[in-house]
Amino acid sequence: MAFFNYFYSCGKQPVEPHAKVEFQELRQSRCSKVTGWLKTIAQLPITIPHMIYTICMLRREQDLQAGDKSLLPNRVIHRVVLSPFRSNYLVTSDRIASRVLSNYRSDQEGLFTITKKSSISQLLLPIINYLTNKRFKVDDFLFTSDGAVAQQHRAIIHDYLGPKRLDQRRVQIEMTNRKMLSYLLRRETNGEVIVTAKDLCGLYSTSVISSILIGNKIENFDDNAKITNAIRTVLNYRVIPFLRKLSEQEQKSFTSSLNIICAFFKTVKSEFLGHIAENKELDPLQKYGLYILLYLAGVETTSSVLEYALWQLGRHPDLQNELVKELGLGKSDLLDRVISESLRLHAPVRIGREFRADTKMTVRNKEGRNWSYTFNKGDELTIVPTLIAQNTESLENPDQFNPKRKVRVSSFRSFSWLPFGSGAHRCPGQWLALAEIKSMLTQLLMHYEVVSSSRSEVRQRQLFTLGLDRGIELNLINRRTISSEGEGAGGGGQKPQAARMAR
Ligand code: HEM
Repeated sequence: MAFFNYFYSCGKQPVEPHAKVEFQELRQSRCSKVTGWLKTIAQLPITIPHMIYTICMLRREQDLQAGDKSLLPNRVIHRVVLSPFRSNYLVTSDRIASRVLSNYRSDQEGLFTITKKSSISQLLLPIINYLTNKRFKVDDFLFTSDGAVAQQHRAIIHDYLGPKRLDQRRVQIEMTNRKMLSYLLRRETNGEVIVTAKDLCGLYSTSVISSILIGNKIENFDDNAKITNAIRTVLNYRVIPFLRKLSEQEQKSFTSSLNIICAFFKTVKSEFLGHIAENKELDPLQKYGLYILLYLAGVETTSSVLEYALWQLGRHPDLQNELVKELGLGKSDLLDRVISESLRLHAPVRIGREFRADTKMTVRNKEGRNWSYTFNKGDELTIVPTLIAQNTESLENPDQFNPKRKVRVSSFRSFSWLPFGSGAHRCPGQWLALAEIKSMLTQLLMHYEVVSSSRSEVRQRQLFTLGLDRGIELNLINRRTISSEGEGAGGGGQKPQAARMAR
């Protein structure tokens, strides 16, 4: 195991705040000749040792992803071999992340490019091709394009979802809030309703995206259940074949979910497509691809953060009470902090960059000692914001959920808060996502007390996005019921949640 540990983590590495990180392009490297030769050998039928090695590495990645903190200290780069032809490295240090993201340029110069051939395009392009019945190339599609094409796509998203039109978006968000509240009210028994956080949050984010992109005036909040589940199944079942073969049942469910999404997109009249109809820079295929991408990108991400925040609030009753008091006074400082801390500890997206050329990275500590790593053209760096957030020296007890930290985590001059990425591909849906999360939490907390039955830790689980590794059940107690109970009991005694838990 020591052997695997060594390769997995490249040994002990400097992570002090003063360590300097430099990248140097290797134009005519000896390394490319050697690796070219090794790659040829790797294609020969000697795959069993390689397979064992890969399986061990993937297991280690899962441990790390699941929060095995013992693997974090003194590591900046963790090597995970995914195929004989390209290596993948997990970045778990803010200094390396900052150097990688600032070295990425959208003009096709820089040392890195957006990951083109690997995971994300392998996952999303076939889905988009199936849904549109067209053949997209990687450069047509925002997630995998850079340069001018990416900028054209991003300008459209910025115009539609960015700060300029946020007030319009807020109207649609508020409409969804009203539908959510009447949905919960309908399901109440004696002032209480039990929901699965995943279902509630998935329905919520799908409803917002549907009304924004499609202008979908749904009657009932749960009318979107079918499409929510179909999107979830398709995205997640695309990932599973990388880990294991889909069962026959799963394969069937994958195909029928794809057909549900296909039918859905065919029948709807999209407000977003109407909005960009006059745009001359993107062809109709690209416009449709962008629309589907926004739909897919905007659902699971926001939903996953909401789920995490509700789980945390459900297990911190005092924080929740304080929050509700503050919201009642029209203040939202504490809520903003809860959201930033949730995004810090549960960022649902990993950020991928690919080396454009053979490259040497040097990390130099204060004493002048160097650690060097050589990467090959096409190798992939995966920046994992949640792991970086827990591996930082800028915060006290960085792995703990503490919205009341002295420092505001989101205003750090550090890369330990990276939920939306940074630089040329920074998330263009961030304003919408933050507005949604804030609005949903405010409305839910003002009307219901949230109790989470699950007190033990949840971990992150990598599927299409990073989700929670198990379902969280929430008990929502209408605050009207609480206040009338309080009156009956003379308004004193136990706090409502404590009283309920004591029962
Ligand atoms: C809490 C919710 C969200 C989080 C944490 C999140 C995070 C991210 C991250 C980390 C990236 C990758 C940046 C990079 O590669 O450098 C990204 C890209 C993207 N996100 Fe989000 N996102 C969220 C919600 C949304 C929403 C609501 C939408 C749209 C409706 C959206 C649309 C996109 C798009 C289109 C890209 C690709 C941008 C590009 O490649 O230039 N995201 N997001």
